[in-house]
This record gives sequence, structure tokens and C-alpha cells, in this order.
Amino acid sequence: MPKIVYGLKEHDKSLASLISDRIGVPMATTQHRIFPDGEAYVRVEGGIERGEEVVIVNTMYPDTDRSLVSALLLADAVKGMGASSIALVSPYMAYSRQDRVFLRGEPVSVRAVLRALASAGLSHVITVEIHSKTLHFFPGTAVSLDPFSYMARAIGGEYDMAIAPDRGAIDRAVRVARELSISHDYLEKRRDRITGEISLKPKSFKVRGKKLLLVDDIMSTGGTIAKATEALLNSGAERVDVMVAHLLGVRGSIERVLSSGASRLIAANTLPPVGHGRVEYVDVTPVISSAVLEWLEGKKG
Ligand code: R5P
Repeated sequence: MPKIVYGLKEHDKSLASLISDRIGVPMATTQHRIFPDGEAYVRVEGGIERGEEVVIVNTMYPDTDRSLVSALLLADAVKGMGASSIALVSPYMAYSRQDRVFLRGEPVSVRAVLRALASAGLSHVITVEIHSKTLHFFPGTAVSLDPFSYMARAIGGEYDMAIAPDRGAIDRAVRVARELSISHDYLEKRRDRITGEISLKPKSFKVRGKKLLLVDDIMSTGGTIAKATEALLNSGAERVDVMVAHLLGVRGSIERVLSSGASRLIAANTLPPVGHGRVEYVDVTPVISSAVLEWLEGKKG
């Protein structure tokens, strides 16, 4: 019988429990402690038999580095208990934005992270809306799930267009537009690689009087979404609602986006709730659970 273990955050346990209830795979109690010197300690208590598959549920924010270490330690622990294969469910994949060398001397961080996870014994990774197509760096099998089609169905509301804040994100707006049978477009964004400063170049598409759904993968400082919202409202949009996969909730980001004029702020529950009354969460564990089930079914065949 496969088992589910979970990372150190309360949210990991909640996600694990939602997945466990949905697919009928039991959870193995997982202990997390921090030694006085700051090092992490994990222990998977019983419940795992030699030759079983194990699913580790461990999202990677907040406490990114600690979360990453906890995934590595859990993989090593269950491998040591004789797990036949181990999948990591990490709805938010850490370091995915440093996906290439922008300035000479930088690492491809996501490559380093995915290789480290594989060397700890993981053979499969399930994540949600990874920033860019980088899962080929993982030496095993890996999948990035689309939360947006599911979210678009779940959120209700009437929209005329789905908008991506930059050209690279157009695929996200396309998926939403397809689901809602509306049109889509994108803004032109530039980010200064040294200062991090963002500028948005308005394009010529017509948004006057339209109800827009602005779609992005990550909302961190809220700078991208706030500037995009302002640009769209300044171009005459009647209303801008925002939908993101990963709401990091960096300090001040929610207020920044709301004060830019966004009417709704909708996020998937890939990360712990930020505790702000205006954020609407969509539970995407049904999408994740199907992917876990698919992996387990594949193991049987
Ligand atoms: C960048 O390419 C991403 O897709 C997001 O637009 C970006 O990471 C959001 O970051 P922030 O909220 O800090 O602007």
C-alpha cells in the first residue's frame, strides 16, 4: 500500500490530508524538529513497508531553503526504509525563476535544485505551473500541472478577456480564455536585471469598457501585477481581476495589488494562506490528486 508523508509546514500536512482523503492513500506520521544548532531533523514513523511507493508532499515556500532540505531528508529517510519509488509533490517549485544564466557568473538554480532532489532518491516530481519549462533538468520523470483551466471553471464571474502581464506568460491566458470562451492578449513587460525594476509597455489592443482577468504564475512583491493592473485600468478597462497560481504574499504585496485597482485577487492553494480577507483561494488538490493517482497507477502497470 503506498503512503503519503509530508513536509514541515502545517500547509504540507493539510495538502497531504486533502490528497490522502481524495485518493484513499494513507498518510504516515511524519515528525519534524529543529536541533538547537538550527539543523533540521525528520522522522517518518512506521507505516512504510519495503517495496511500497511513497509520495512526499512538500511545497517550497515560505522557508524555502528549509523546505528544500526537508524534502531531501524525507526522500533519504523513506529510501532507507525500502520505498520502491518516491514521488515529490511540490506544488510550488523553489528557485524556478532563476531558470537560466541572466548575468555571467550566475547558476541555473532550478537545475541545481532538481538534480539535488533526484540524487536524494526521488524518481518523480509533480509540481504546479512551474515558472518555465525546466523540468527536463530533473533526471527522472516530472510533470507541471495546469491549475488555470480548473480555476477558471471554479471562480465564477463574467470576463471579456484573459490577459498575461508579459509575452512569455501568454500560454496561461490562452488556457483561461479557452476555458471561458473569451479572447486573450498580453502586455509587454521589461525587468531590469540589475535593479529588478519592472516597466510595462502598453500594447494597442482594446480594453476600454472590458472586464479583464489578469493571469500570472507567481505573485511575489506584486510589482508585476500592480503595474499591469494600472496600465489596463489607465487604458479604460472597466474592471481588472487577478488570478495567480502561487501567491507568495511578500510583505505589502497584497495591499500594493489591491491599491492598484484590482477588484478580485484569486490564488490556488499551492502555498499557505496569507491570512488576508480579500484573497480568494481555489483548492487545486483535485488536479494534484489525479496526477498522484496517475503516477501510482503507472507503477502498477
Ligand atoms: C516573472 O516572470 C513571473 O512570471 C512573475 O510575473 C513575477 O515573478 C512576479 O513577481 P513580482 O510579484 O515580484 O513582480
